[in-house]
Amino acid sequence: MRRVKVPTLETERLILRMWNRKDAPQLYEYAKNPNVGPAAGWKPHESVRESRTIIEQLFLANTTWAIIHKATGRLIGSIGLEKDAIRTNIKSRELGYSMSEDFWGEGLMTEAARRLIRYAFEEMDLTVLMIRTSDTNRRSQRVIEKCGFTYEGTLRRAYRIYDGTLREIRVYSMLREEYEEGKSEAEAPKAENAKAEVTLP
Ligand SMILES: CC(C)(COP(=O)(O)OP(=O)(O)OC[C@H]1O[C@@H](n2cnc3c(N)ncnc32)[C@H](O)[C@@H]1OP(=O)(O)O)[C@@H](O)C(=O)NCCC(=O)NCCS
Repeated sequence: MRRVKVPTLETERLILRMWNRKDAPQLYEYAKNPNVGPAAGWKPHESVRESRTIIEQLFLANTTWAIIHKATGRLIGSIGLEKDAIRTNIKSRELGYSMSEDFWGEGLMTEAARRLIRYAFEEMDLTVLMIRTSDTNRRSQRVIEKCGFTYEGTLRRAYRIYDGTLREIRVYSMLREEYEEGKSEAEAPKAENAKAEVTLP
């Protein structure tokens, strides 16, 4: 199996480093949670062995980093720059991520995503970076807004997840010149509907 080497990157609270097959128990620990995978379209992991297979066949074969929380030393998530399935013949990648529920809501994924946006434009020299999420994933939509991506549109009945559910997909992108204008660092104001969502019982 071909391995994609990625460099270690650092942010204020996180280290982003290459995955290792020995990380399987820590991946399993958060990926077994039914609140994590299904939000991103994947089935909760059922064993450490399955997590090890995902590391070997998916993470190590792609441009994917393990997210380490500096303060606790824990492996708390995954973030990657995969091939863009839509813009296939220009320099474009798709950002994707997931994180342990224990660490949600502290701005950590926004911090990791901003670091990878920088890497994507400065080291990979991309023309465009895209990201997609489902219409129901408000948390991820908020991370995407905070990182300064532009909403492009929604693909209707675009994707069938592992349990057969059909999802709509919201597509966002950031152009190189938008990155250079500092869009990824600008804090986006909260959308009114996102606020309403937070206060719902
Ligand atoms: C999506 C995910 C990565 C977010 O990570 P995170 O570190 O919690 O993200 P951040 O803390 O940077 O930002 C989350 C934002 O969502 C907001 N939020 C939380 N719950 C919300 C809700 N129910 N409705 C709307 N917004 C919500 C938070 O308030 C925060 O915004 P703020 O900084 O303006 O207050 C994490 O929840 C996750 O791993 N989810 C499961 C996997 C997944 O969905 N992956 C993405 C697939 S596209």
